[in-house]
Amino acid sequence: MKTNRLFFRKNMIALTGLFLCLFLIVHLSANCLLLLPQDSARGLYNAYSTFLRENPLIMAVAYVLYLSILMHVLYAILVLVRNRRAKPVKYAVNQYRENSSWASQNMGALGVLILIFIVVHLVNFWARIKLGIGAEVGIDAAGNKDIYEVTYTLFQNSYYVVFYTLMALPLGYHLHHGLQSAFKTLGFYHRPGLEWLARLSLIYAIVISAGFGIIPIVVYFQ
Ligand code: HEM
Repeated sequence: MKTNRLFFRKNMIALTGLFLCLFLIVHLSANCLLLLPQDSARGLYNAYSTFLRENPLIMAVAYVLYLSILMHVLYAILVLVRNRRAKPVKYAVNQYRENSSWASQNMGALGVLILIFIVVHLVNFWARIKLGIGAEVGIDAAGNKDIYEVTYTLFQNSYYVVFYTLMALPLGYHLHHGLQSAFKTLGFYHRPGLEWLARLSLIYAIVISAGFGIIPIVVYFQ
């Protein structure tokens, strides 16, 4: 019974994690518009943002996204607590450590950093844009909410630039281990396939981490 519960929880972490990985590809692609010169970036970014907010299908997917974040965190906490209880003794010689990466041993700590980032990030953008909390969001020449201005103003603050850029590092480590781990949890154990998966996870983690890390710096210097 306990094994079944653990199996279910790990599978939920894997499935929600993979969905969040897909979200990050879409989210980074949209935010790459910020790398364009200001004149073109503002109109495109605001128009795309309006499309996302007003499309009923995307709105439904957004609720799946919020639920996925909550379930990913909740089940990860449950598995971490269970693992702590099951392994209370610190072994003098820990072979497990030798056979596992730094990221795999610190997924919990990396996850906490990412969660802190997401909370700050949602307060910076989501709460202001969707809930209207904080300073009112302006309207651009095309009549769209000026999300570009919200982003640009935030990244004129060097503390936020450093915070966003540094936080891209734990995100990269978490994704590198998490992506491989999710496929294995879901039963993917094909030998040459696992080697490809390791390469793909590394490329994915570097692209996502570098992308989200560079954007605030570029916007700061615009
Ligand atoms: C350069 C970095 C980033 C920028 C400029 C950025 C920008 C934004 C903006 C403008 C929104 C609000 C969209 C809207 O409602 O119109 C948003 C929402 C969101 N972002 Fe980011 N983001 C960045 C990085 C990240 C990262 C690294 C994560 C996850 C680890 C993330 C997760 C989210 C989530 C979960 C939402 C709420 C989705 C929704 O709108 O319903 N973002 N982001």
